[in-house]
Amino acid sequence: MVTLAVRKNKAGRVIELEHQYGAHNYHPLPVVLERGEGVHVWDVEGKQYYDFLSAYSAVNQGHCHPKIVDALISQAKKLTLTSRAFYNDSLGEYEQFITSFFKYDKVLPMNTGAEAVETAIKLCRKWAYLVKNIPENKAKIIACEGNFHGRTTTIISMSNDPDSRKDYGPYTPGIELVPYNNLDALRKALEDPNVAGFLVEPIQGEAGVVVPDEGYLKAASELCKESNVLFIADEVQTGIARTGALLACDHENVRPDVLILGKALSGGVYPISAVLADNPIMLCIKPNEHGSTFGGNPLAARVAIAALEVVADENLSENAAQMGELFRNELNKITSERIELIRGRGLLNAIVIKPMKGITAWDICLALKDNGLLAKPTHDHIIRFAPPLIITKEQILEAVDIIKRTIKGFDK
Ligand SMILES: Cc1ncc(COP(=O)(O)O)c(C=O)c1O
Repeated sequence: MVTLAVRKNKAGRVIELEHQYGAHNYHPLPVVLERGEGVHVWDVEGKQYYDFLSAYSAVNQGHCHPKIVDALISQAKKLTLTSRAFYNDSLGEYEQFITSFFKYDKVLPMNTGAEAVETAIKLCRKWAYLVKNIPENKAKIIACEGNFHGRTTTIISMSNDPDSRKDYGPYTPGIELVPYNNLDALRKALEDPNVAGFLVEPIQGEAGVVVPDEGYLKAASELCKESNVLFIADEVQTGIARTGALLACDHENVRPDVLILGKALSGGVYPISAVLADNPIMLCIKPNEHGSTFGGNPLAARVAIAALEVVADENLSENAAQMGELFRNELNKITSERIELIRGRGLLNAIVIKPMKGITAWDICLALKDNGLLAKPTHDHIIRFAPPLIITKEQILEAVDIIKRTIKGFDK
């Protein structure tokens, strides 16, 4: 009992330290994690949880995947960072690997998702001036209402979420928003000859796993083609097998002109992101016109190769498709007045909660935590469920049982 009390204090102390010395830009669930393996994480008291967030889909391959961690450790002992002032012996091999994996001519390596989105925006604007001949400073990017592309100033200039945007102005110009999943609105916006690109999430993750109508992405990409506008897919969250295909765009046989990847490109062990495009677009950026000290470093290169090999070797797309279907089918069997809607694709799913008697998604996530499953609300009434893609049938059934028990507990 004494040990337990001491350890309990440890969790409290960690939370207190963060509160006192860290900026208050997050509101974490009150659980302090110290270990992860596969689909599970453990807190400082040794309690085991299913991780149904997977670090916002960065840990698709499962926590501390041995092959990815081995790649990290062995490269870390040799060479970690050279900057791009010199060549390193890993980057070229990674570039060849990732471009053949996703079938593009070229890759531009960056670190975080937001940086990759910024890179795609810059690349699109360069292309607009050099190839499409849009008059200087007139290039426009169309994005969607409800989007989440990251936290930088230009990106939040695209956001219509007040939490992301308010009091951070002045905002970057040259952006127009259209409603998501609305082809008429896109068609109208594309009438402006100065439109350079259409930036879209194939499924809006942070908005609450909003899945567009079937055919939307295909039709949107065709409209872009007709208007000589780049179709830019932000697959930072949806990519790398999460939705039951390597890319969410693959479900509709759409090949983006510019593809943005992040998160699971490292299996969660290291910040790695990438922008992929073919030569006529990518070669618009010339030496010294864009870069990053850490982007393309040898450690990242080795980790990303290992992370993508795991996705292929362990058939994670197929598993995400099958386990996702099982998960939604089982969730749909739960009868509860709390559940308004279940939606998703592959292993990117959400339950929309009926707001009743003041109980929010946050309250349900707290109870899920107590019952051994970690998930995080997006907005007040939506809970996203995105476990590592290595999850098995037995684990899905056990997790659904926890979710069922927890939600039914609120019906009483
Ligand atoms: C679709 C999408 N794009 C970009 C980002 C930003 O990624 P990062 O947090 O690594 O900057 C996220 C993060 O959640 C995302 O979901």
